[in-house]
Amino acid sequence: MLVCDCNEVEYEAIKEAVKKHGNNQDAIMEETDAGTSCECCLEVGCRKVDLSLPQAIQKALAEL
Ligand code: FES
Repeated sequence: MLVCDCNEVEYEAIKEAVKKHGNNQDAIMEETDAGTSCECCLEVGCRKVDLSLPQAIQKALAEL
C-alpha cells in the first residue's frame, strides 16, 4: 500500500516508524521522508497514494 508517491514510502515502513514514534507525525516524516516533497499525501483526499499519511498512522496505531 503506497503512502507517499514522491518518496516511494509503503505502509509497512510507516508501521515500523509508528512503533518507535507513536502518533508523532513529524518524527515519522523525518524518519521515512513520507510527506516531505509535494505534501499531497498529508491530505486525506490525495489521489497519488492508496492511503494518506494521517490515515496510515491511524491504521498502524490500531493494528499495533
Ligand atoms: S506524495 Fe508524499 S510528498 Fe508527494
